[in-house]
Amino acid sequence: MTKKPLIISTDPGIDDVAAMTISLFADELDVRMIVPTWGNVPLEYTTQNTLDLEKFLHTKVPVVIGANQPLVAPMISAASVHGKTGIAGFEFEKANTDLVKPGLAATLMAEEIKKSPEKVTLMGIGPLTDYALLFKQYPEVKENVEQVVIMGGNIGRGNHSPLAEYNIAGDPEAAQVVFHSGLPVKVAPLEIGNKAHLTPEQMDKVKECGEVGNMLYSMFSNIHEPDGDPRIKIYDPTAVGILLHPEMFTMRKANVEIELRGQYTYGASVINFMDQEHVNAEIATDVDLDKFAKWFIDSIKKADQGRE
Ligand code: RIB
Ligand code: CA
Repeated sequence: MTKKPLIISTDPGIDDVAAMTISLFADELDVRMIVPTWGNVPLEYTTQNTLDLEKFLHTKVPVVIGANQPLVAPMISAASVHGKTGIAGFEFEKANTDLVKPGLAATLMAEEIKKSPEKVTLMGIGPLTDYALLFKQYPEVKENVEQVVIMGGNIGRGNHSPLAEYNIAGDPEAAQVVFHSGLPVKVAPLEIGNKAHLTPEQMDKVKECGEVGNMLYSMFSNIHEPDGDPRIKIYDPTAVGILLHPEMFTMRKANVEIELRGQYTYGASVINFMDQEHVNAEIATDVDLDKFAKWFIDSIKKADQGRE
């Protein structure tokens, strides 16, 4: 099987940890680099969390430090959900910075994409600041990008504000650049993560997946949903699911524009299924819950077995 080359832009973040863990041990993926960016918590924490996770998982994928703030928007934070350092509920052994590849993220991503014999997939599970900078600085790399797969946006109500989802609201201008990149964009919106929540029984199965399962269980048990919803929603792995098993999802083509001017709607992802003339994305509108839950738990088990 030819592995899909993958770059992950991420703001760990508890659900980012789950998404990275699954990706790093997936047979179908060749994770070329991980780009921690500002997002749930500041860049210093997302970078250290990425390094600590790789130390825990015994992986050695290069870490390229991304943006420390949005392009234009004011900084936001989800520390109330993920904890001050971005990872509530589990204490990793601190890693050193040996895995950090020095240089500007846009430049290092461009070099990786240009030298890859196969087209590279870009996964975004945090604000899209670094991909916007990449496309603006090195537009030529797009010819060797397979697709962009993101967790972000919302068909209906938001989770950062009434109409905006966190990742898009974090950097609306960057999101607009990505949706207007001309590349295939696949979207796991908020609704999919809300639907693919973990039941208590599934949480127990996660806990039974060795040290990796226990790590994730400890974190998931500490996610504090802003609306107090007791269901455990793990948004970012739905983007990995779309990349690896699109058959688990119902995808619909749409035109997506990001609201950049609204006083109360800034950062809203306006997902228009009616406009089939200006399609720029495929949106997941449903997920087979049983298949997704089985894949999710099997993937965690696989990660634990793969972590010598
Ligand atoms: O809205 C959910 C998204 O915001 C997830 O990526 C979560 O990690 C936060 O970044
Ligand atoms: Ca995230």
